[in-house]
Amino acid sequence: MSGAPVPTTIPVGTDYDVVIGAGVLDRVGDLLGDDVERVLVVHPPTLPELTSRVAAALEAQGYAVHLAEVPDAEAAKTAEVAATLWAQLGRAGFTRTDAVVGVGGGTVTDLAGFVAASWLRGVRVVQVPTTLLGMVDAAVGGKTGINTAEGKNLVGAFHPPAGVLCDVDVLSTLPGADLVAGLAEVVKCGFIADPVILDLVEAAVADDPDRARSAANPHLRELIERAVRVKAEVVAADLRESSLREVLNYGHTFGHAVEQVEQFSWRHGEAVGVGMVYVAELARLTGHLTGPEGDALVARHRSVLESLGLPTTYPAGRWDALLTAMRRDKKSRGSTLRFVVLDGLAEPTRLAGPDVALLQAAYGLVSRHADAPAH
Ligand SMILES: NC(=O)c1ccc[n+]([C@@H]2O[C@H](COP(=O)([O-])OP(=O)(O)OC[C@H]3O[C@@H](n4cnc5c(N)ncnc54)[C@H](O)[C@@H]3O)[C@@H](O)[C@H]2O)c1
Ligand SMILES: [Zn+2]
Repeated sequence: MSGAPVPTTIPVGTDYDVVIGAGVLDRVGDLLGDDVERVLVVHPPTLPELTSRVAAALEAQGYAVHLAEVPDAEAAKTAEVAATLWAQLGRAGFTRTDAVVGVGGGTVTDLAGFVAASWLRGVRVVQVPTTLLGMVDAAVGGKTGINTAEGKNLVGAFHPPAGVLCDVDVLSTLPGADLVAGLAEVVKCGFIADPVILDLVEAAVADDPDRARSAANPHLRELIERAVRVKAEVVAADLRESSLREVLNYGHTFGHAVEQVEQFSWRHGEAVGVGMVYVAELARLTGHLTGPEGDALVARHRSVLESLGLPTTYPAGRWDALLTAMRRDKKSRGSTLRFVVLDGLAEPTRLAGPDVALLQAAYGLVSRHADAPAH
């Protein structure tokens, strides 16, 4: 994979850095900070080679490395798995100056972050995300958590990492569908804050559509850097998801509802793809996007997402279930439904409590072309 040899460092406020580069995995120890002796490396069963490289790099720097293999994907994010890690930390005598390293997708970094947040009321965690979603979203921002039987991410803590290390080379083994799902969050950053992202995606697609959807996308590193900058700027200004941070939820109110109605058989990024088309239509219906420019911006949502192979339609006939799911979303406050909509490209604003008739009309526009299941 291409990419300048020198890593890029993106600060998240004054708290920590996100380091992005090609072949930078061995630098993990440099992000740990002072006085660390023991390191727990939390990893899934699917990444033995990457895990060994991280462990070897840490050992070479003199750290006492403890490996913790956890179940793959969402099965990692349980209280039972967290408890086994607490037991391991206890047996190995981890102190307040020791650290946790999470190597894996967003599920592993969410778990590793939560265990670090809770052990001795908080020890350092360095995140080494290995999926695109992890790099541009899950590992950056300090939200950590696990699931319970009642729902996803219901237990967690805000615990900013000591550092985040993104080695773009590791994405070459990521399944294509996971890469594309991660691109949905990158595109989201393009619509809410950095339109150059959209230009780069469109240029890559024009050049070679298949390559644009893969880790060989010639702009992938720049896309990651730009998306991380967008998230870093928002997060630095607003750690606790009050108002500003809400813009990162562009496309997510409807997207979360799709995930629930589909019982999490859709990837998050796929649901957010449809969710962005939905809020683009909603913005037009509520007078936020107007005239030919507004029409063009809505059309650009469809064209960019479709060109990456992301779904932009959702089957008709599921309105009641979707509305119920949106009302249950933990991001809604009380009974008021909240959306992020655009007033124009990179001009996000909030829309609280829109008329249900308009919400349903926007669904009609998203479902109109979806005769067959969209997925
Ligand atoms: N904390 C946050 O702010 C935040 C934000 C967004 C998402 N999340 C969480 O992130 C999770 C989803 O993350 P995800 O999409 O990375 O899923 P994931 O962690 O399940 O990873 C997806 C799959 O890819 C595999 N994999 C990981 N890296 C690989 C690589 N380099 N090569 C080959 N295979 C690889 C994994 O083993 C897994 O099977 C969800 O639990 C979600 O709640 C958290
Ligand atoms: Zn998301």
